Amino acid sequence: MKIAVLPGDGIGTEIVSEAVKVLEVLDLKFEMKSALVGGAAYEAHGHPLPESTLQLAKEADAILFGAVGDWKYDKLDRPLRPEQAILGLRKHLGLFANFRPAICYEQLVGASSLKPELIAGLDILIIRELTGDIYFGQPRGRRTAVDGHFPGAEEAFDTMRYSRPEIERIAHVAFQAARKRNKKVTSVDKANVLETFQFWKDVVTDVHKEYPDVELQHMYVDNAAMQLVKAPKAFDVVVTGNMFGDILSDEASMLTGSIGMLPSASLNSKGQGLYEPSHGSAPDIAGKGVANPLATILSAAMMLRFSLNQEAAAQRIETAVQKVLAQGLRTPDIWSEGTTKVGTAQMGDAVVKALTA
Ligand code: NAD
Ligand code: IPM
Ligand code: MN
Repeated sequence: MKIAVLPGDGIGTEIVSEAVKVLEVLDLKFEMKSALVGGAAYEAHGHPLPESTLQLAKEADAILFGAVGDWKYDKLDRPLRPEQAILGLRKHLGLFANFRPAICYEQLVGASSLKPELIAGLDILIIRELTGDIYFGQPRGRRTAVDGHFPGAEEAFDTMRYSRPEIERIAHVAFQAARKRNKKVTSVDKANVLETFQFWKDVVTDVHKEYPDVELQHMYVDNAAMQLVKAPKAFDVVVTGNMFGDILSDEASMLTGSIGMLPSASLNSKGQGLYEPSHGSAPDIAGKGVANPLATILSAAMMLRFSLNQEAAAQRIETAVQKVLAQGLRTPDIWSEGTTKVGTAQMGDAVVKALTA
């Protein structure tokens, strides 16, 4: 089992170290190789995704990724910015299906900003299309406007687009995932305004004909953002495009107590996957040893489940995380009165201890 370990920038290095610690105490044979990515790779090699890093990722059975980015790179030309590394990996490896499960562990019901009764027992799955939409659509750029409200003015533009096969394959992923859960899919769109998302809605409706046992609901993204905090447990599987999925998954992370709790898996059609927390490099807390490593540790569990065929080990990690939370250990982002505040490494150590006890 070959794992490419790409810690990246900011808290990326701190949280990935903890996930690696956890993987190392499992009685499994991994071949883990690390490489620089993001700003760290730009500093060393002049590119956020060097050929050698991409190659390592391509040859691996799975990739464990931390996070990339720092404000200090905001002025670089876009192709050199750290974020291009994760976008490039998703594109080059064809990682079109992004699973972001928002599960509220019972120990963390008090950590969310929502009322406990709204989130107790929450278990929803956001499936975000990850290689299309306005993120990758061409053309894009800057130019002088020839029409619009201010002809002659400087303007910028991006292109939102989806092809039928791109929508079909993510819709199949969502319906198949729902079959293993509560058999309900909410497809989130903006069909009332955008042609791309009227097409999305039409194609999802077509694919649904193959899944009569699964309930399909369509919802506009603005309403979905509201419903997610009004009645989150009414959702089961949410499927949506790249940009809406990015935004809604950060929103959903607060239903679990913190963005530091939301893992993710990004899969291609070969079952190869990249596993990363849903959050970023958190420059505001980087280097302080306070970041929550649980989203990354839970992403490693998803890696064992989806790419390495180690369901038992995945469950062991998830159980260990719950044990540690039951012991009252909390990084600052999930801390509340009456619990014990710990740092990143202490949290990782506690998970290791719970696994080996
Ligand atoms: P962010 O997710 O890095 O941070 C948002 C807030 O959440 C911050 O206050 C941060 O301290 C907190 N936070 C995030 N993860 C946490 C954790 N594990 N424990 C405790 N608190 C945590 O988002 P941002 O600040 O908008 O972006 C920072 C940088 O990260 C940017 O350069 C952005 O492009 C990049 N980014 C990268 C990825 C990725 O690599 N996949 C994802 C999102 C953002
Ligand atoms: C995420 C991040 C990325 C995205 C950025 C860093 C490119 O926000 O993984 O959610 O927008 O997809
Ligand atoms: Mn995001």
